[in-house]
Amino acid sequence: MIEGESSRSRKVALFVTGGIASYKACEILRGLQKNGCDVRVAMTEAATEFVGPKTFEALTAHEVYLDVFESSSPIPHIELAEWADIALVAPATANVMAKMAYGIADDMVSTALLACSCPIIVAPAMNVHMWENPATQQNAETLESRGVFLVGPATGSLACGDTGTGKLAEVDQIVSATLARLRASSDLAGKHVVITAGPTHEAIDPVRYLSNASSGKMGYAVAEAAAAHGARVTLVSGPVALPAPTGVAVVHVTSAQEMLDATVDAFATADAAILAAAVADYRPAVQADHKLKKGKEDLSSIELVENPDILATISKDRGDRIVIGFAAETNDVIDNAKKKLARKGCDLIVANDVTRADSTFGSDTDSVTLVGVHSETEYPCMPKAEVANVIVSELAHMLEPEVPVTDATIVLPVGDNNAREEEQDSTC
Ligand code: PMT
Repeated sequence: MIEGESSRSRKVALFVTGGIASYKACEILRGLQKNGCDVRVAMTEAATEFVGPKTFEALTAHEVYLDVFESSSPIPHIELAEWADIALVAPATANVMAKMAYGIADDMVSTALLACSCPIIVAPAMNVHMWENPATQQNAETLESRGVFLVGPATGSLACGDTGTGKLAEVDQIVSATLARLRASSDLAGKHVVITAGPTHEAIDPVRYLSNASSGKMGYAVAEAAAAHGARVTLVSGPVALPAPTGVAVVHVTSAQEMLDATVDAFATADAAILAAAVADYRPAVQADHKLKKGKEDLSSIELVENPDILATISKDRGDRIVIGFAAETNDVIDNAKKKLARKGCDLIVANDVTRADSTFGSDTDSVTLVGVHSETEYPCMPKAEVANVIVSELAHMLEPEVPVTDATIVLPVGDNNAREEEQDSTC
């Protein structure tokens, strides 16, 4: 058992798909069980060519989910999806990744995965050329952008004779990532987190407004990550074209003043806030109650007044609550972020250089530096879902300093599952 790990059972749905690495799913299963997990197994037909379902039935003392129609359960795919705290696809073939990326549900495994609302971890294993194929790469990116966490694949010599990337990650790495994700899914349990997202619209008249290019992707990803970590989440959202994240209460607002009111209101019962919105700093001093007529009314200059600063306002009276802000910078990113941290009085600033095409308004990825009073941590460019997980993990750490950092990329020692096979040939 991992030191400090709760002994209570955690429910893992292990999806085994067809490849030579399928047999390693038995070791993964044992590693999870040794760390207190309750595991149920679903297999594709191809996987049963490599390992018999009886093996998993003996190891779990439960029927293996093989077929949507031939099962002792009336709706087996939904039963499994709703039962699981986490879904682990290991090994994951190129085929199952493609089905997941496109929402295809044509067998027990793909149908149950489509029904899963829990976190999903995918451990790919395939031939190097299949992994490097642009279709697989794009599917992997799609899955990551939706918050699916990929472990591996590793690089080495593969069973088919090729050498390259495609090997199933080490068993203990997969087990560790699963345990880390399980811990993450409850480290904000009982906490209420307020998140702002998107732009604000500052009306000039009933049809015109001042705004910016924020899509809301970053804030929505943060809201999703906070919910995945077990928090009760209130998302105060400016006007965006994104669906509400599952399990998150969304308060829709338009202007900075409305965003301030909704945020202050929600923060009254909150433990923390993460403000990712791009709030308009100014609004027109006067909002016309009719559409201003070109030529007849003066539109050539608009008098502006400053909007309230939401981040500074809630930081001022936060007490022992945690407030995290963002800084969208175009130059001297870290220096400006530090100044912003001091000026706004929050606990942490997520600085992003929005001159980078891969880290800006509307992009699917971001490269951020977390700037604290005495710390600076730079991260590589990652999908916004992963950036969000980093920020939320940091929040959990700040709220409960004794909770270990839950970044699933950190490989922790796992029970007595460290006896690794030295073989190199396990995957394609
Ligand atoms: O929405 P996306 O398309 O995914 O883009 C993401 C993002 C670039 C908008 C996001 O990563 C980001 O950087 N958000 C903050 C944008 C911004 O307005 O930064 P700022 O440096 O102007 O503001 C600093 C902080 O103060 C922010 O937390 C902001 O929410 C807050 N603020 C600013 C002005 C104001 N009147 N009230 C505020 O609360």
